[in-house]
Amino acid sequence: MKNYYILIALLFTIPATMAQDAEPLRELAKKHEIEIGAAVGPQQIQNDALYRETLAREFSMVTTENALKFRPTEPQQGRFTFDDADTIIEFAESNNMKVRGHTLVWHSYLPNWVENNDWTREEAIEVLRNHIETVVSRYEGRIFVWDVVNEAFENDGSLRDDSAWYEAIGPEYVEMAFRWAHEADPDAVLFYNDFGAEEMNAKSKAIYEMAKDFKERGVPIDGIGLQMHIPFDHHLSGRSIRRNIQQINDLGLQVHITELDVRIDTPVTDEELQEQADVYEEMLKIALEAPNCTAFITWGFTDRYSWIPSFFEGTGAALLFDEDYNPKPAYQALNAVLQTPPAQINRWKERNQ
Ligand code: XIL
Repeated sequence: MKNYYILIALLFTIPATMAQDAEPLRELAKKHEIEIGAAVGPQQIQNDALYRETLAREFSMVTTENALKFRPTEPQQGRFTFDDADTIIEFAESNNMKVRGHTLVWHSYLPNWVENNDWTREEAIEVLRNHIETVVSRYEGRIFVWDVVNEAFENDGSLRDDSAWYEAIGPEYVEMAFRWAHEADPDAVLFYNDFGAEEMNAKSKAIYEMAKDFKERGVPIDGIGLQMHIPFDHHLSGRSIRRNIQQINDLGLQVHITELDVRIDTPVTDEELQEQADVYEEMLKIALEAPNCTAFITWGFTDRYSWIPSFFEGTGAALLFDEDYNPKPAYQALNAVLQTPPAQINRWKERNQ
């Protein structure tokens, strides 16, 4: 009889352990006081049970990949749609996950009525103010952190001038956005987010200077998002990323790794997947060592749904799970790093947030 029970127990545990024998990332991450997140879409949540299961099991935070961008939220002036964002946020809430709202102000993903505007400066200010106030206040207390402004800088450190907001309002649109977001939800954590600003370079310097100026003048900013869309054969300098994060820490600001993915030329070899895992591992170590890095987020989590193959032709396989939700070496690497006892992480200062 006893053997019978053991057999039954084994039958139930074997499929589960085969699919997933490690403790989930989100559980391991708790000890390190860091959120582990992924960008997600509403259709996948609605239609794909394995997507829902994997997401809820492994991640403690979600970013709205597209659902809260300007075009889907205000497709016509003054007419707002929130169905997609609601799907994501309700899923997150019922699975005890935090939400990163992405993104209030960006030069891209705008509706035609914004792209083809002929506003005066005052009109543009009113459009942007109303958008931010409407979206942020709708989710007051439910969206934990906002990417308020996304990709406002060029690689040379100048402000991007091919943006409807820059053209109509001028450089002040950035700080205006932060002030309006703060007014609409005083408890929301407010981030500036960009790509190519991971290492010390002209762009990260410009972002640093802006954040320093904001802190000095009382413009409400809480953190800097480092996107980290990495081509896997491009070696980012860990040392340089650490120095950059350290400088941001000295300003009293948090860092989130916001959009990590590591794309590989297809078809992909096992060796390349292993090297990809090394990149993921190094980035997570950097995040855990930094006292101000409070979230580590990948841009999607399964190769079944990723923006990479359509945006960077000939590349793919950029995420932690393959198209059938099998964990890849990159997943195993992150899991192993998170298993390191926090006391053994070489943190350069205690967390103060
Ligand atoms: C991408 C989405 O993943 C795609 O689905 C969409 O078509 C275009 O935008 N930097 C960002 C993200 O801040 O918003 C982008 O997301 C990827 C690059």
